This record gives sequence, structure tokens and C-alpha cells, in this order.
Amino acid sequence: MEGGEGSGKTSQIKRLQAKLEATGKEVVVTREPGGTNGAEAIRHVLLSGAAEPMGAEFEAMLFSAARSDHVEMIIRPALAAGKTVICDRFIDSTRVYQGATGDVDIEFLKELEEIACEGALPDLTLILDLPPAEGMKRANARRAKGAPVDRFEKDTLALQRKRRAAYRKIAVENPERCVLIDASGTEAAVFKRIWTVVEQRLEEGIVAGRGANHSRAASEPAKSP
Ligand code: TYD
Repeated sequence: MEGGEGSGKTSQIKRLQAKLEATGKEVVVTREPGGTNGAEAIRHVLLSGAAEPMGAEFEAMLFSAARSDHVEMIIRPALAAGKTVICDRFIDSTRVYQGATGDVDIEFLKELEEIACEGALPDLTLILDLPPAEGMKRANARRAKGAPVDRFEKDTLALQRKRRAAYRKIAVENPERCVLIDASGTEAAVFKRIWTVVEQRLEEGIVAGRGANHSRAASEPAKSP
């Protein structure tokens, strides 16, 4: 699940988990950066802003190091056990935040992806699309309830707009993997759009542990689902 600040990823993941479990699937919900002790430690370094002075390329390497541990310890074992994994942010966050708005070379990021994921790539990436002003309003409401501002949330509206454009470009360039979801409206309305997509993919046998994309053949390009 991907999207900008305040796009509703976390609440939609909860709904998706419940719905998938109701169909009898075993679901593992996880997030990036994080998911393992090592990756959570790196998360702290990144979100506190401690790595910011070292630059976006350095941050990209840290996100990827966290991803590598997360894939090995959580994602790959869960897929191997036939479980469905829902991850709050993944490779596209790095492409967008460090690539599009951090100016890190995309080829370098793709190499990092291969090293970190070793073929464990998403069958389906849902990109929650919302005007950044709307997303920031939601994020501000969340902060009013006591959530702290992290390193990336403090970024300007202009940067958030650039990120939205980058996500939309990823959706256009990867139509077999990515689906853009209109994230405006009520939580229930957004989930209806998500479930329409997921249900269709389930019927086609494309998502949920079929395993076609998860081999270790790091040098091979990801197969279309
Ligand atoms: P989080 O609190 O999980 O944000 P959100 O609720 O918006 O998902 O913080 C993760 C932050 O890290 C978020 O601002 C996006 C950023 N990020 C990157 O810059 N690159 C990455 O590869 C990942 C996974 C996250």
C-alpha cells in the first residue's frame, strides 16, 4: 500500500486485512521502514532526522538496509508459508521520496531494490491518490491528537505535490503491478474502490501467495503477475 502523507494507508490496510481474513486468508500486516528489530532501529534513525544531513542517497541506503532485513525475516518466510502480506510502503516510497524528491539516481535505486528484495516483489501495489493539501489536512488532524511530526512530514506542500506526480507516473509505467486508487471521500468509499480491485485480482489468481514473483532470482527482471 503506497501513497503520500495522510492518504489513509493505515486505515485502509486494517480494512483490507479484515476482509481478506474473512475470506479465510492468513494475513501478515507490516510496514516500512520497520517490521523487524533491526529495521525499527533504522526507522528511528531515519524518521528522527538524524540521517538527513548525510543526504538522500545515504537515506536511500538506510531504507534499503532496513528493507533487506524486513524481506528476509518477515516477508519471505510469510509468503513461503502461503500467507498474504500487506506492507505499508515499500520500494515505491524509495523511488518517490528519495528518487523523485531526493534526486537520487533511479538506476542506483533499482540496484538497491534488487539487493534488498532479491525477487520478493509485490504482486499488487495500491497507490492511494489524494491532493496533498487534503492529505496534509488529515495528517494535521492526526497530529492534533498527539502524533509527532517526522522528518518527511515536515516537507513542504510543493514537495508533496512532486511526490504525488511521481506516484502517478509509477502507476502509469507499471500498469501490471500498480493500481491508482482515488483516496478522496469517506474511508468506506475508498475501501470499496480498493476491494473492487483486490477481489478481481483474487479471482484472476494474481495476488495472495501464488508465489510467481517471490523467487530469489535477483538478476532476473520481475515477472508480470
Ligand atoms: P510513517 O510514519 O510510516 O509515514 P506514513 O504514515 O506517512 O506512511 O513514516 C514513514 C516515512 O518515511 C514517510 O514519510 C515516508 C518515508 N519513507 C521514505 O522516504 N522512503 C522509503 O523507502 C520509505 C519506506 C518511507
